[in-house]
Amino acid sequence: MLVGVPATAVLFLISWIALRQTRRMYAEADRRAETEVALRQSQKMEAVGQLTGGVAHDFNNLLAALLGNLELLRKRLPSDPQMIRLLDQATQAAQRGAALTERMLAFARRQELKPEPVDIPGLVRGIGDLMTRTIGSAFQIETRFPMQLPKALVDANQLELAILNLVVNARDAMPEGGQITVSAREEHLRDRNALSLPGGTYVRICIEDRGCGMDEATLARASEPFFTTKGVGRGTGLGLSMVHGLAEQSGGRLVLHSRKGEGTVAEIWLPKTEAPSAKPAEAAPASAAPEHGRLTVLVVDDDPLVLSGTAAMLEDLGHEVTVAQSADEAIRRLAASDALPDLLLTDQVMPGMTGIELIAEARRRWPWIPAILASGFAELPDGADAAEYKLRKPFSQDLLRKALAACSTTRQNVHPLVAKRG
Ligand SMILES: Nc1ncnc2c1ncn2[C@@H]1O[C@H](COP(=O)(O)OP(=O)(O)O)[C@@H](O)[C@H]1O
Ligand SMILES: [Mg+2]
Repeated sequence: MLVGVPATAVLFLISWIALRQTRRMYAEADRRAETEVALRQSQKMEAVGQLTGGVAHDFNNLLAALLGNLELLRKRLPSDPQMIRLLDQATQAAQRGAALTERMLAFARRQELKPEPVDIPGLVRGIGDLMTRTIGSAFQIETRFPMQLPKALVDANQLELAILNLVVNARDAMPEGGQITVSAREEHLRDRNALSLPGGTYVRICIEDRGCGMDEATLARASEPFFTTKGVGRGTGLGLSMVHGLAEQSGGRLVLHSRKGEGTVAEIWLPKTEAPSAKPAEAAPASAAPEHGRLTVLVVDDDPLVLSGTAAMLEDLGHEVTVAQSADEAIRRLAASDALPDLLLTDQVMPGMTGIELIAEARRRWPWIPAILASGFAELPDGADAAEYKLRKPFSQDLLRKALAACSTTRQNVHPLVAKRG
């Protein structure tokens, strides 16, 4: 008897623990299944992102070559207005292509962003005219903002583009016209939340329409790049993917709610800024940099088109250029020449040695050689700071000139005695 009571208690305890364990296992399995779906979706987006980023990178190179050559042609062409017009049209087309690749890079989260504290109501008011002009008079845009709203940390120009994209989508969903509401509010997220964002304060921007809405299948694919239901020439399928990329890269989310026939709400969640509202100090204008003399420049790029385009732009600026199609060739050239160039300008992504590796290797042997790193990607790996200057592709001749000016200033600051040539 005395043994029986504790034994029964132990038995109860064991069954209770077993029951709890089973329940926990079921809950765990459910959660795992959900996580797996989410994971598969994010892997798919990642893969598409990498593919898109790769394609965009190649296109960026082609456009860099095109724009560079067109710019030079425009300078050398006799001032025949008809030819100039043709040339300007070609330049505009290439620039539109560059804007498209920028959207692709935005989706692939490889685009260079300049996050700053942004006053959302002010930003939306600022593009009010542009929005009405873009969508036409059959639509009214209503804005709703609270009296107090923290600033969001985001790239202001890209956010304007993102909101415009969403407003255009709302327009397309309402062929008869109607009302589009743009609003924003402060949100507090706890540590574990449905958006899987870190806990904290966010600004949620909503763009709402009462248009055709989306069925589940469309909604599930809407943010994929190149997914469009709008027919050839009308949709690019890059609007939502751009917004998605921007939100993710800014530490936020794009959330879509939609029901067929009822309308759509697109939400951009952005982290609130912690920084004081003062604008970060602007960098000194490049034009203030002292003009440099004739430089010798070693240009390295695996893409022959980009290589000759950059070389032509530099020569046009009055500099002396040597070229190499790989990092290895560049090192060989440096080692063989009796006078080092004043500057090394290298592409980052190349087969074999990357631009950063090339700079490191060159610095190991010739510590004083200044370098410019050119790249279409924002997320440069560690070591990119070794370059005196980073140049975003595609670049114009003017940007190239500024990079050279900035570089020769640094060089003068760091090595006042190195000037080998007058
Ligand atoms: N507000 C909306 N209402 C209904 N459908 C939408 C809305 N926004 C986006 N969609 C759907 O998502 C697709 C992808 O949108 P987006 O990436 O902006 O590309 P595009 O507008 O070029 O088609 C659209 O083709 C459309 O089917
Ligand atoms: Mg769109």
